[in-house]
Amino acid sequence: MSQVRDKVCVVTGAGSGIGRALALELAKRGARAVGVSDIRLEAAEETASLIGGGTEVHAAALDVSDREAVAVYAGEIADRFGRVHQIYNNAGIADNGPVTEFDYDRYERIMNVNFWGVINGTKEFLPHLIASGDGHIVNVSSLNGIMAQEGLSAYCSSKFAVRGFTESIAFDLKAEEHPVRTTVVHPGGIKTAIADSALKWAKDTGQEVTPEHEERTRYYNEKLLKMEPSRAAEIVINGVEANNPRVLVGNDARLLDALVRLAPRRWPKAFGLFQRRFEKELEARGIPPQAKKPARESQPAHH
Ligand SMILES: NC(=O)c1ccc[n+]([C@@H]2O[C@H](COP(=O)([O-])OP(=O)(O)OC[C@H]3O[C@@H](n4cnc5c(N)ncnc54)[C@H](O)[C@@H]3O)[C@@H](O)[C@H]2O)c1
Repeated sequence: MSQVRDKVCVVTGAGSGIGRALALELAKRGARAVGVSDIRLEAAEETASLIGGGTEVHAAALDVSDREAVAVYAGEIADRFGRVHQIYNNAGIADNGPVTEFDYDRYERIMNVNFWGVINGTKEFLPHLIASGDGHIVNVSSLNGIMAQEGLSAYCSSKFAVRGFTESIAFDLKAEEHPVRTTVVHPGGIKTAIADSALKWAKDTGQEVTPEHEERTRYYNEKLLKMEPSRAAEIVINGVEANNPRVLVGNDARLLDALVRLAPRRWPKAFGLFQRRFEKELEARGIPPQAKKPARESQPAHH
């Protein structure tokens, strides 16, 4: 029996990328209603406009790091549709740079969205999910919730935390016999706007962004963010339908997950070879190796 058909589902960060694709896939599989929210209202509305068929849609502006707003939103969705079965805590952002350069504001910004956003969404929707009698929490972590990388201390912290939080609450919900399942999602490289948005944010906040940075991001997008979001959404929702507590999205995620587990001390060396090859390819395109200081986007990063 489908875990999605006739369900009321909510997706955060649904204005783009994986979130938009999740909303569309849920509708395609016969969800009764989908709540699509994003910090950018017009993007959420655009996603809503793409949803047809018999699925009802509710589009809203929502900043997942704003706990009070998430509480109000959860109440609105429950009032509008009578119940809520599934929450997809998907909204997330990236930023990279070495720990020596990264100030507290940048750590807080990433943690507020990627980690607190997930806790806010989980806690505020949980009473409704329990009341539904058949709830599911889907929290989007990353390959960087399994594997750390240079220059990504904020992002990795947030994504490791999402994994720990989700795996821990699975025990709580089971121990208290609540009818709510959990899935933590670890995508590899998915073709979305995440790296471009990080670059835009750097520019908008007056950080130095050179043409080399832009070319690196362009090449990173082309080489590493390969899977279509629609395929990622299918894999995630297949995992939800199969009641998998953990979903790896893509061959890169599956391979690196195995490498980290099977060779816990040796995987950085193996990954280093891959990084050096990436740097060589960049050099061949006229992008010089990144100076060590200040070093930004000095390596391929999985978001
Ligand atoms: N693209 C990848 O390769 C990849 C890999 C691993 C994990 N992820 C994770 O997948 C999730 C979705 O990212 P994506 O790749 O689709 O990126 P994306 O940039 O295409 O989409 C993210 C969406 O979240 C929204 N958003 C940003 N801040 C928000 C906030 N405070 N509140 C609500 N919405 C907000 C953005 O407006 C955007 O529409 C993120 O959690 C990301 O970390 C992505």
